[in-house]
Amino acid sequence: MGFRDYINKIDEKGLLQKVDVETSKKLEISGILKEKEPTPLMFNNVKESEFRLIGNMFCTKNVIASYFNVTPADIIPMLSKAITQRSEPEIISNALCQEVIESNVDLDKLPILFHCEKDGGNYISSAVVITRDPDYGQNMDFHRAMQFSKDKFSTRIVRGRHFHTFLERNSELDVAFCIGNTPNILIAGATSVDIGVDELHIANALEPIKVVKANSVDLLIPAEAEFVLEGRVYLEEKHAEGPFVDLTETYDIVREEPVFEVKKITHRKDAIWQALLPGALEHKILMGMPREPTIFNKVNETGVKCIDVNVNPGGCSWLHAIVQIDKISEDDGKKAIKGAFIGHGSCKHVFIVDKDIDIYDPLSVEWAMATRFQGDVDLIIKDKEPGSSLDPSAELGTKKTTKMGFDLTKPLIPKGKSFERADFPQVDIKKYFKQ
Ligand SMILES: Cc1cc2nc3c(=O)[nH]c(=O)nc-3n(C[C@H](O)[C@H](O)[C@H](O)COP(=O)(O)O)c2cc1C
Repeated sequence: MGFRDYINKIDEKGLLQKVDVETSKKLEISGILKEKEPTPLMFNNVKESEFRLIGNMFCTKNVIASYFNVTPADIIPMLSKAITQRSEPEIISNALCQEVIESNVDLDKLPILFHCEKDGGNYISSAVVITRDPDYGQNMDFHRAMQFSKDKFSTRIVRGRHFHTFLERNSELDVAFCIGNTPNILIAGATSVDIGVDELHIANALEPIKVVKANSVDLLIPAEAEFVLEGRVYLEEKHAEGPFVDLTETYDIVREEPVFEVKKITHRKDAIWQALLPGALEHKILMGMPREPTIFNKVNETGVKCIDVNVNPGGCSWLHAIVQIDKISEDDGKKAIKGAFIGHGSCKHVFIVDKDIDIYDPLSVEWAMATRFQGDVDLIIKDKEPGSSLDPSAELGTKKTTKMGFDLTKPLIPKGKSFERADFPQVDIKKYFKQ
């Protein structure tokens, strides 16, 4: 649909709120976005910049599903299919993202937000980062970037990410940080697939896109991005990065991270900056949702029929997974726990539920735990193993954590009381009350 078409669509439907009063990129816009989450907001008058800013665009699974014109339950098969049936985007030579080409880089002119009081600086958090290795080809993923001068950022590159592998192989790399993207590109950037797979091909399979050669670097970039920051990232040139709010809504530590030097900025004539609040709903949905197909597939591979998966915001959309199964054998719950941990290695707690439990309703899941779970037989506690670096309770450095699986499914043949929720009579409620 395109970023602009989508903005127009939500505007026409009255779903986009506009802020016309002057607002600051420092400790003001982020607060307004958080307060109004998940409502999309357009800031038309940013004090420090000529550009407009939009945020809270894709905060829920429902919004993302409606973008693709599907239901939330269709997202897992849709994403699985896009990962396996990737397709090459059309290459064009004239692109909107290059309407303006700026060689005198001054990052202070951009509405790069200073989000929370203890942050180390202004941060880009919505950019998909495109880079290339001579043997593996292009890669696209997310890397937050902290501005520390008029043309430089330090950018967080977690060890093990494909970008990090590329950097280790090449010591410095051309990059394009692309800002202002639709969900097909954002979701593709957040998927972890085999090294050598260009995630732009996943984006194109989700919804066709056009790509263009970047202006000063040999990279193919989304042609309809709002802004593109082109330059080079250096493995050995480091600068302090952080503190910054992480997915868990807690502060990440300060590290020495690679420097990203911006050499050129290209953008649309009336470009709109896309903000993405760290640790907030939009960050969570983009992190968690791409893990759902991998859990779904691995649970199915154990022979258990998986119906749906929710890597839910209450578990930081990373540390918890709620897995709904069609239980046929008594050991299906335990098998599903094993499959889920294979499908998402950073997951700490897995909850397996039956078909009648609403995995999007925390009360429903807790009800299953309260009525169908016995700790001595339904709990699997694994030996300590590396989990997620994001978990503040995991051992710093080694990431060691204790993972647990909760089988909240009911026994196939109850030995005592029933496990079914009683139904009240269905009534036509309008009949009983005056309008
Ligand atoms: C909004 C958002 C922000 C992210 N920020 C970072 C980051 O700063 N550094 C990082 O290494 N990974 C970050 N990630 C995670 C990676 O981009 C993601 O896991 C990606 O799939 C890794 O790609 P790869 O498999 O090509 O290595 C972020 C993900 C999202 C959705």
